[in-house]
Amino acid sequence: MYSVLLLTISDKASRGERVDTAGPAVRQMLEAAGFNVTGIVVLPDEAEIIAKALIDAADNKTLPLVLTIGGTGFSPRDVTPEATISVCERLAPGIPELMRHESCAITSRAALSRAAAGIRKRTLIINLPGSEKAATENLNAVLETLTHALDMLLERRSECAGAAL
Ligand code: MTE
Repeated sequence: MYSVLLLTISDKASRGERVDTAGPAVRQMLEAAGFNVTGIVVLPDEAEIIAKALIDAADNKTLPLVLTIGGTGFSPRDVTPEATISVCERLAPGIPELMRHESCAITSRAALSRAAAGIRKRTLIINLPGSEKAATENLNAVLETLTHALDMLLERRSECAGAAL
């Protein structure tokens, strides 16, 4: 069972001015899919703080998966993708491509998520947008690929045998 840390990125939630409903909804989806959610940490929209938390999750906690929630949009405070890219050694653009592809069938505003994904050491980091609706729809687009991705990253599967039909 893979462990996953959730980082909710929101100035308002970090100040206690907004209740984070996206984090618990994402947690529920992940647990239903067989993941072990180690916790939900709420952080402000500060690139340095986000980057530090990602580095700690990868280098010290050695978690296989971190999902960030929020801070992917166009407002000047939205810096989650930049913080993520700054700590990743390899990018995984196919994951946000699939999230936006699936999400654009639901709303054209999906194009406004600048979410990124990438790998630091043995940790996969994926950005989700911040509202409960957006976060769960985006996770839904990629959820079934995650175990295969982590099997490859952690060398529990030596090669990709192709997708089942
Ligand atoms: N993706 C899906 N599937 N559903 C949505 O409702 N909302 C969009 C987009 N992605 C949305 C979505 C909107 S309105 C914005 S502004 C961006 O995600 C960025 O959200 P964030 O700034 O909260 O991260």
